Amino acid sequence: MTKQWNMERKHEQYYKMAKKNKYRSRASYKLKQINKKFKLIKPGSYVLDLGAAPGGWSQVALEIIGNEGLVVGVDLQHIKSFEEENFIGIKGDFTSEEIQKKIVRSLEGKANIVLSDASPKLSGIKDMDNLRAAELAETVLEICDSLLERNGSLIMKVFQGVEFQNTLKKIKKKFRNVKTTKPDSSRKKSIEMYVVAKGFRGSTRN
Ligand SMILES: C[S@@+](CC[C@H](N)C(=O)[O-])C[C@H]1O[C@@H](n2cnc3c(N)ncnc32)[C@H](O)[C@@H]1O
Repeated sequence: MTKQWNMERKHEQYYKMAKKNKYRSRASYKLKQINKKFKLIKPGSYVLDLGAAPGGWSQVALEIIGNEGLVVGVDLQHIKSFEEENFIGIKGDFTSEEIQKKIVRSLEGKANIVLSDASPKLSGIKDMDNLRAAELAETVLEICDSLLERNGSLIMKVFQGVEFQNTLKKIKKKFRNVKTTKPDSSRKKSIEMYVVAKGFRGSTRN
């Protein structure tokens, strides 16, 4: 059996598991696996989920936070509501000032953790896509500046490629402890990686 066959099978397995366990996306397992390892989302956490549709990560975050915390999910696409009342969905582009203001208002100015699984629209031109992903990552860091509490955390998808080291450098300036991880549920051949950053140093805006 080829390596390729094994990888496709694993991918299929996560898809089936998500269906069976009523998760909105296979991506739910990425956050489950990352959080199992790093334990950043906790009961009562205030969570911002950027690039959240269809809602797989928000669903996992809601399971962990329980009744006390809040999840705010933002996406260009509509995110269907959840049974839980402590979820706020925002439809729009998080690079826009108007949506950023809405985000800050919804979280009353404070998040314990920012998640971003956002992917730009891919053109297929590797360097250009890498650049777009890096720009998106930069916006995520600006949003951290406006609402992430001191010592808060970030879990963000990044793409390996020309801008990878540069993005990592920018994250390290803002967070004390930065690691990269690739959960088992992320396709091996995909260039995506996840940055897990802890110990936010606080806003550098002023
Ligand atoms: C891989 S999907 C997220 C999957 C999600 N984590 C889940 O578990 O269901 C990436 C999402 O990022 C969103 N996205 C990309 N750029 C965005 C932007 N500027 N503003 C809001 N959402 C964006 C896309 O619309 C897409 O739904």
